[in-house]
Amino acid sequence: MAQKLAAGNWKMNGTSASLAEIDAMLAAYPSPNCGILICPPATLLERMSRRIGDGPIATGAQDCHAAASGAHTGDTSAGMIKDAGGAYVIVGHSERRTDHGETDAIVRAKAEAAVGAGLVAIVCVGETETQRDEGVTLDVIGTQLAGSIPDNVTGVTLVVAYEPVWAIGTGRIPTIDQIVEVHDFIRARLVERFGGDVGTTVSLLYGGSVKPSNAAEIFAVGNVDGALVGGASLKAADFGAIIDALQDA
Ligand code: PGA
Repeated sequence: MAQKLAAGNWKMNGTSASLAEIDAMLAAYPSPNCGILICPPATLLERMSRRIGDGPIATGAQDCHAAASGAHTGDTSAGMIKDAGGAYVIVGHSERRTDHGETDAIVRAKAEAAVGAGLVAIVCVGETETQRDEGVTLDVIGTQLAGSIPDNVTGVTLVVAYEPVWAIGTGRIPTIDQIVEVHDFIRARLVERFGGDVGTTVSLLYGGSVKPSNAAEIFAVGNVDGALVGGASLKAADFGAIIDALQDA
């Protein structure tokens, strides 16, 4: 079975004062029955990881470079993330694909580096609104999955996040039927490529405007194992309500 995971992506939000949110979450969830992950900005990763210590919340980064080291000003390697206490890294988020021109091949190289460094790679895929309107959503997702996921993954080292670009930060989410369709498709593609043992154990997260008010219906979908949450992960109270919904699912 795939692990249930509530993952928070803080994006470019948070300074030292935001670490108080972690204290609140540690107090509220001493022994959760699902995985909890926060991906803060790079500047907070090490401090957050230290603060959590052996606690039940994992930390991760929002991006990594494909190379282990070298002349890449401003970038962070997967090994550095691991060294800072991170266990996960998000790769191929649509904001990276759009703002930084990341192609499937680049995302794949990053995911490969992440797994090679001992991190779990959260590979993001998702269609734009135009692509959904044109009826090519599954083609787009299929191409992204084939191109962005490396061969060296297992159910332990890979997480896939389905994030429709048009649902991110907009307050709009797909219909439940649309989420079912895409998640079933992703599961089938993973089983086809990696076999049942791996394909059925990769956690599939839905992301895009997940909130306390819609989390339960999304988590009721069979092939949804959790969520990648942006805005609603910044405050322990909101993220906690989403964790509660996942624990109850
Ligand atoms: P959102 O972002 O929850 O703020 O829509 C999700 C994401 O981009 O991971």
